[in-house]
Amino acid sequence: MCGIVGFAGKDGAKEKVIDGLKRLEYRGYDSAGIALPINGKIEIRKHVGEIANLEKIIQDDDFDSSIGIGHTRWATHGAPSDVNSHPHANRDNSIAIVHNGIIENYIELKAWLSSDYGIKFKSDTDSEVIAHLIGIYYDGDLHQAVNKAVEQMRGAYAIAAIAADEPDKIVAVRKDAPLVAGQGDGFNFIASDIPAMLKYVRSVYFIENNETVVLTKDSIRIYNEEGKIVKRELYHVSWNADAAEKDGYDHFMMKEIHEQPKAIEETLVRRLNPDDSINLDGISMTKEDLEQFNKIYIVACGTAYHAGLVGKLTIERMAAIPVEVDVASEFRYREPFIDDKTLFIAISQSGETLDTLEALREAKKKGARVLSVVNVVGSSVARESDDVFYTWAGPEIAVASTKAYTTQLICMYLIALYMGRTKGLVDDTRYESILSELKALPAKVESILNNKKKIESIARKYYKREKVFFVGRGLDSGVSFEGSLKLKEISYINSFAIAAGELKHGTIALMEEDALVFALATQDFLYEKMVSNVKEIAARGARIIGVAKEGRKELAEITDEVIYIPEADDIVTPVLAVVPLQLFAYYVAKERGCNIDKPKNLAKSVTVE
Ligand code: M6R
Repeated sequence: MCGIVGFAGKDGAKEKVIDGLKRLEYRGYDSAGIALPINGKIEIRKHVGEIANLEKIIQDDDFDSSIGIGHTRWATHGAPSDVNSHPHANRDNSIAIVHNGIIENYIELKAWLSSDYGIKFKSDTDSEVIAHLIGIYYDGDLHQAVNKAVEQMRGAYAIAAIAADEPDKIVAVRKDAPLVAGQGDGFNFIASDIPAMLKYVRSVYFIENNETVVLTKDSIRIYNEEGKIVKRELYHVSWNADAAEKDGYDHFMMKEIHEQPKAIEETLVRRLNPDDSINLDGISMTKEDLEQFNKIYIVACGTAYHAGLVGKLTIERMAAIPVEVDVASEFRYREPFIDDKTLFIAISQSGETLDTLEALREAKKKGARVLSVVNVVGSSVARESDDVFYTWAGPEIAVASTKAYTTQLICMYLIALYMGRTKGLVDDTRYESILSELKALPAKVESILNNKKKIESIARKYYKREKVFFVGRGLDSGVSFEGSLKLKEISYINSFAIAAGELKHGTIALMEEDALVFALATQDFLYEKMVSNVKEIAARGARIIGVAKEGRKELAEITDEVIYIPEADDIVTPVLAVVPLQLFAYYVAKERGCNIDKPKNLAKSVTVE
């Protein structure tokens, strides 16, 4: 959470930093701020709320410089307020810092800085201690002062610091929070993520844990923990800045929902050889490795966890290996049975989710082989995994994940198919049939999108409901969880998902007239059972919206509305069934006047525990 940006060039730092912050706003939008060294002093402007608020207070302000640092905040320590906003400065304003992460021993450091140096703290944040620590060690060399300060800190951080006496330099450091340096012609950037600088640079260095970067307009120097210069390959970014623009849509979420056909196709194409075999380029796992796995853990958070629920059923069905799915924050603190015959699959759009990353490290330590499904190339999860299956969804900006989910499902299918085939459990006919089902998905998703007006009108009818349930069986049960999460995170409606067969064990008590129920019935072999469950709900007076494959008429007779999805093999319907749920959540949030791309209390990338 939180986004940091630093620019070092000839001039125009204010514009570059603000522009970069706008592209990082998905990481947090509780407040924003900027610091520039001007005439031997550091000038800081910061404001609570979105970056637009900061822009208002600086629009007539002619302060500018050749370098600067900025921050967009997702509050952890201290409420969102002007004073808790970054940048934070030391006592005499000669040092300023921006920080993403949490300094775990900040209370101890605060006590020490107050008692031994008489420092009075202005904010409630953990981050302010960093500015004071650098301040007490500073004797004209910012790089050395940052190194000394870091020695005393515990926790996770990406920090960028500037000093009034060295107005041509930014020093940044990383531990367990993302940091990328971008190389331009006569200027350089440092930031939490690539989109912050993509308008200006295409060549980037990924900074590793415990590395420090010293940035001027002419150079980017990366140092390891021992203080030695590190040689790092430049990575060329192939996507352009337009991929991170709204492209005429009102919201990134709607744009990203519409990008799903292309993203699904891209994710598939990249892993299929011309003869339709699965292409394992860059994957080191051998057939022998695969044959010896006797257990799989899929670990992720939020939407990625929901992709794991579908992945579990698919892998078990096709490859006959027991699969456990867990949320990363729980997995970390249990005693999972891991050995060298365990395959650990981490799923993460950002590749920076701290819980997922720590769970992965834990599994690796215990001997598991790690395969990850990741969207952001070069992210921490990708770099720390043995093998990576990338989702080729392109940048996902809206906090509510859509195209990342459907492409994660595609990776799950490909992994399951590959395992099943290698183990001789999926014969040629089944393999070809599933593959042709997968290839047909982009056009089928497109046809659901072409019918979005119907979903909009359903959303207009029901957007005032305050109790919405999502139920389904088998693969539909996993999709129900995703539909419910989409609705609650962007419309703030109290929503709940449950396996349909489990309703009668308690939750059916809530099925009264004020309840709205989404009943997913796309699984042919469970269809009749689902119809019975829907009848039980209808008997209690709840309003019901069914989701079924074309032609399943029985559902229409017992529900208030039915949304039909194109005919498809049961196994791939999650990719189709989720699309109306994404659209429903979007239109409901719009009717309720919610901030769709930046819902309250959330951030896109959760890099704290
Ligand atoms: O980047 P990750 O996929 O690891 O993120 C995991 C969750 O934080 C994320 O899916 C979250 O639940 C989304 N806001 C859901 O729309």
